[in-house]
Amino acid sequence: MRENSPSATAQIVALNVAFIAARPELTHLVDAETRDLNREILAYSRRSRLWIRISGQRLFQRAFPAFEACIVPGMALHQVLRKLWLAEQVQRGLDAGITQVVILGGGFDTLAARMARRYPSAQFLETDHPATQAVKRRALERAGYLAPNLTLASVDFNLHPVKEAILGLPEFRPEAPTLFLCEGVMMYLDPAAIDRLFAGLASFPCPALSLAFTYMEPGTDGRIAFAGSSPLVAAWLRWRKENFTWGLSRTHLDGFLAARGFSLEQEADDATLRDRYLPGVRGARIAAGEKLAFATRMATT
Ligand SMILES: C[S@@+](CC[C@H](N)C(=O)[O-])C[C@H]1O[C@@H](n2cnc3c(N)ncnc32)[C@H](O)[C@@H]1O
Repeated sequence: MRENSPSATAQIVALNVAFIAARPELTHLVDAETRDLNREILAYSRRSRLWIRISGQRLFQRAFPAFEACIVPGMALHQVLRKLWLAEQVQRGLDAGITQVVILGGGFDTLAARMARRYPSAQFLETDHPATQAVKRRALERAGYLAPNLTLASVDFNLHPVKEAILGLPEFRPEAPTLFLCEGVMMYLDPAAIDRLFAGLASFPCPALSLAFTYMEPGTDGRIAFAGSSPLVAAWLRWRKENFTWGLSRTHLDGFLAARGFSLEQEADDATLRDRYLPGVRGARIAAGEKLAFATRMATT
């Protein structure tokens, strides 16, 4: 991660959301509020503004999937569908009595800002690197989304333990049933940071705690990468200092979580996402390799 510039991968996710929002056959997957807020956030970069301008053009709509197929086939659609699935977990949690949501490595995602409006009595906290947060804060301010129940904080998980960083935020409510969300982030952490993250979450003082997250499943060759992705992607990620450093095989997930005090409640992969959100849509490719999970902290005796 480069210190002084906003996260390149957060920008790519947001560009992918913009692209899907502009595709006539997939536009229903991105609601108007998300689309507009996403645009507002992307306005910081000339390249992003150009992308938004051309992403609705027919030639671009045809050319980009062909280009994407050479890089990471089906990536844009995967990222939009994972957001829908994770938003459902958060929505369900809030409806079931969660009163605090903490988003780790929120990047340019708009979920916390949108939900903070909809649930004014719940608390929303989001962390990321300072340069990424600064871009987002300015955009949310312009769009009128900086609500009193939304906190944007700067935390580097490789440098600071998540637990101490979050507990140190004055807005954090230790007494609230809390849901943590970690979308598209764990793959960038080193194994020691992952262990610290889970150990920290397991010992939070909140009376109930759940975690929605995504993780990369290494391929049969042990490579941590999306299925069919070009070796150029790994080189580019290394150059941007956002290379993938952690993955977990699905067969080890239950044991991994149980050893850390969590139990798996729900999960999804590309096939589940297709069935849930794209019934009847043919031929749309969804990237495989990143899995989604929802886990709850087990009660200690
Ligand atoms: C691929 S983006 C995902 C952003 C957002 N969660 C989403 O899915 O739209 C990865 C995010 O993780 C953040 N990140 C990566 N390593 C981090 C670290 N060590 N500490 C804090 N944030 C980190 C990056 O700044 C970036 O915003």
